[in-house]
Amino acid sequence: MPVPPMDENTRLPLDKVELQGGTRLEPRQTSPNRLLVQREGTSFSGGLRLGTNHSIEPLTSTSHGGNVYQVSRKLGTSPHQLLDFSASINPLGLSRAAKRRLIESVDLVHHYPDSEALELKSALARYYAVPAGQILIGRGTTELLYHLARALRPQRVLLVVPLFGEFLVALASTKAEIESECLSEARGFALDIARIEQRLTAKKFDLCVVANPNNPTGELIHQKAIDRLFSVAEERQTDLLVDEAFIDFVPGASAVNRLHENQRLLILRSLTKFFGMPGCRVGCLLAHPSRMAELSSGREPWLVDTLAQVTAIASLEDQHYQAATAALVSRERGYLMEGLQAISWLKPYPSVANFILMRILDPMVSAEQLTARLLADRILIRNCSTFGGLDSRFVRVAVRTREENDKLLAALENAWS
Ligand SMILES: Cc1ncc(COP(=O)(O)O)c(C=O)c1O
Repeated sequence: MPVPPMDENTRLPLDKVELQGGTRLEPRQTSPNRLLVQREGTSFSGGLRLGTNHSIEPLTSTSHGGNVYQVSRKLGTSPHQLLDFSASINPLGLSRAAKRRLIESVDLVHHYPDSEALELKSALARYYAVPAGQILIGRGTTELLYHLARALRPQRVLLVVPLFGEFLVALASTKAEIESECLSEARGFALDIARIEQRLTAKKFDLCVVANPNNPTGELIHQKAIDRLFSVAEERQTDLLVDEAFIDFVPGASAVNRLHENQRLLILRSLTKFFGMPGCRVGCLLAHPSRMAELSSGREPWLVDTLAQVTAIASLEDQHYQAATAALVSRERGYLMEGLQAISWLKPYPSVANFILMRILDPMVSAEQLTARLLADRILIRNCSTFGGLDSRFVRVAVRTREENDKLLAALENAWS
């Protein structure tokens, strides 16, 4: 039987690559440094280049946290009986005002949604302090990044990994040639701007994707590095896509105020995490006014449902909820971090977001084993071995309420006793 190609870092066979819903990617090595991936049973295909520090790692990053329905079906329990630390969602849940508005608006489903989502656009414009004309609304950032891949059709892409796995799948589906740059654990996963500059200068890339703050590392890109990245992208005429899905947890850190001066800058924002509404799909893409015609073409009508629109508007207007969220996450992140640091076989990494990445120091325990062990206590954590650039010893946990964090800490402390 032929031996499948192996991931350079994890030494995992690439046929272990799994997509949401259990679909597998079928990698095929077509030349010593090129790999073709194909989603089974579909026409999906894309090229990936292999080699030092820009190999196939992103290929392995296509599974997700928060699979409460799948997991509960498997365990024969209800999703409500699970404690989900695998998806990093606001532990307060939906804003109370948003919940009220959602319930009151239920009869609106009798009409088609406002296809232009004008009221939502105004609410987003106020919240981001950006003109409404620079906002493209979508059904979550995932839908938008797939749209972006089709609208821009970049031929050569640099992904800074570890990164949300759908970027790779979306870009590979338009046959982009994808390379990656790994954030190094030895540097605390800080962006090595000199290295990125070198990569963008050595070769022409049409698109570079970074996340700020990065998920799952929780690292924020320093302002100086961001400025340098903007200049290099501008000089090299490379579009720079910044995924700011978690930036609401870091007040004042967003690059939206730089959009007017930078035609190459594209920003993705999500309402999923901070506003606790992953089941109500709303996200947006922000760009320079000169890019909006290109980015808006080919959009379907009625992309965002009425109930998602009204929920988003009420959430964006609820400043009390936003302040309470920021305070809770900041306090509980510190508490959880302290608790995790006290567990000798774990090494948690500092985070600015509502999740914490950890390395398992015990050589006898893998991320898969720890995830399975906690599942026996009905606790879900994110096995990060599927993220490109990380290995089978990394897990990520969300920051939740004090009571829930205590349950997680107790389960970890007692995991092997
Ligand atoms: C870093 C990052 N970006 C984007 C997304 C997509 O978010 P959504 O499609 O719910 O807006 C996720 C989801 O997990 C994520 O972790």
